[in-house]
Amino acid sequence: MCKSEDFEKCDYRSEGKMGFKFLGRVKKLKSSILKTNAWLLIIRAIVTALVWASAVQLVGIWLIRGPSLFKVCPPCTQLELPAHAELAKLPIPIALPPKRVYKNNGYLMVSCNGGLNQMRAAICDMVAIARYLNVTLIVPELDKNSFWAASEFQDIFDVDHFIASLRDEVRILKELPPRVRKRAVYSLPPISWSNISYYFHQILPLVQKYKVVHLNKTDARLANNGLPLEVQKLRCRVNFHALRFTSQIEEIGRKLVRILREKGPFLALHLRYEMDMLAFSGCSHGCNNDEEEELKRMRYANPLWKIKDINSEMKRLEGLCPLTPEETALVLVALGIDHNVQIYIAAGEIYGGNRRMESLKSAFPNLVRKETLLEPSDLRLFPNHSSQRAALDYLVSLESDIFIPTYDGNMAKVVEGHRRFLGFKKTVLLDRRLLIGLIEQFSSGSLSWDEFSSIVKEAHADRMGSPKKRVSIADKPKEEDYFYSNPHECLQLLDEPLRST
Ligand SMILES: *[C@@H]1O[C@H](CO)[C@@H](O)[C@H](O)[C@H]1NC(C)=O
Ligand SMILES: *[C@@H]1O[C@H](CO)[C@@H](O)[C@H](O)[C@H]1NC(C)=O
Ligand SMILES: *[C@@H]1O[C@H](CO)[C@@H](O)[C@H](O)[C@H]1NC(C)=O
Ligand SMILES: *[C@@H]1O[C@H](CO)[C@@H](O)[C@H](O)[C@H]1NC(C)=O
Repeated sequence: MCKSEDFEKCDYRSEGKMGFKFLGRVKKLKSSILKTNAWLLIIRAIVTALVWASAVQLVGIWLIRGPSLFKVCPPCTQLELPAHAELAKLPIPIALPPKRVYKNNGYLMVSCNGGLNQMRAAICDMVAIARYLNVTLIVPELDKNSFWAASEFQDIFDVDHFIASLRDEVRILKELPPRVRKRAVYSLPPISWSNISYYFHQILPLVQKYKVVHLNKTDARLANNGLPLEVQKLRCRVNFHALRFTSQIEEIGRKLVRILREKGPFLALHLRYEMDMLAFSGCSHGCNNDEEEELKRMRYANPLWKIKDINSEMKRLEGLCPLTPEETALVLVALGIDHNVQIYIAAGEIYGGNRRMESLKSAFPNLVRKETLLEPSDLRLFPNHSSQRAALDYLVSLESDIFIPTYDGNMAKVVEGHRRFLGFKKTVLLDRRLLIGLIEQFSSGSLSWDEFSSIVKEAHADRMGSPKKRVSIADKPKEEDYFYSNPHECLQLLDEPLRST
């Protein structure tokens, strides 16, 4: 299912190994009396090192010059879509940074769990942790058991760019060096939402004792707040610069954006209404009896989904369910979204199919999805790789003129944060609890359409991804704003000062 690609264009690992061999050789030579061929050996080693260094520089420049989808757009304050959308610009090429020299305390292995964007955040955290513990990070292993993902790191991310672009911070290897591979690995799941002092005081001693420590679960991530500024900045650097999708994913992502842009501005709707989401969350509002049964069966059959007995209606009224396609249509119309705009559905297969998409389709006839925009041959490049397809949706969502997620999962949060970084690009953060209440009132006739629409607009006027400080709540990390949805330490602030609400 997960075919790994051939990414041996530039193997930094060999360069590292070479360095070790070279040092070992010098030591041996020092202890023995210089033989006639010793000088020859040293010269050969130095020449090899020089050739490697320049090859790495060249490849690094090539990697960084590669076009990227990222662009910075001026902040948008109106809901109207901009008339002229700029095409992505090439970044200014920069040379590879020099390697950071530090005394290695040991090796950190990491297994990420969860969907693509949960793993993305975890990777950023783990790089920051490895950097401040002065250890060597082994390229993180992606989740292979989760429902949502089943890929290798190099199927999703450009692994050579990841390693090379962070070399001034931390040494990253594709696998453990042979010398330490034989050692027993100490495995543990780190404590959720810890700050960096936990890693200094609890994890570093383990690394020093065992040499190889494996963090086998990473949804237990770094705290949102209370971390040194340089740690926060490094998390951003990994997220926004070092983590780049493979060139194949980037290329198809660019193609999608190009096709959309040719027809004008577009809105990306992260319509989280796939079967797995509904089965997992137990949200079945609007489904028929057979569908409800099917969702329930799927939930009970999955041992990873611990909560089985769920009251869908209660959960919905609390604002804890993704909006249904019908609810979404009402809300988009109420917000005053132009009915002619292209709406890109950034999602997998919508549960219930065309029947559930009817109201959205009749309100917004220009609904498109990657399956309708791309050739089957493009999509065949990503057979059943949910993470790769999610990566395409990520890229299109990032570039969209307006991004609207119908649920606040990890993709919604990480894309929101990335769009803030790209210049506070408009992300409409729906207040689902309020909306469900209003929709109930509107459906029962106690609110007129005009009242409904004006309350919806007013309630979201200040939920557009504009400059704000992250809300922090001591001891309640799950309730405070997530670092990756608003990494305010890393944002280029506009003229106005940060507002704290
Ligand atoms: C990491 O390395 C830096 C620079 O060599 C040093 O100042 C720092 O104390 C080291 N920290 C640890 C935890 O080893
Ligand atoms: C992680 O390691 C701990 C300790 O070795 C073990 O008890 C636990 O089952 C492991 N968790 C996973 C997800 O592998
Ligand atoms: C880090 O966490 C520890 C305990 O987990 C706490 O005592 C300490 O105050 C925290 N430090 C910061 C800067 O928040
Ligand atoms: C891909 O998905 C289709 C439909 O969901 C399924 O029939 C097929 O067996 C899957 N292929 C692989 C290689 O998993």
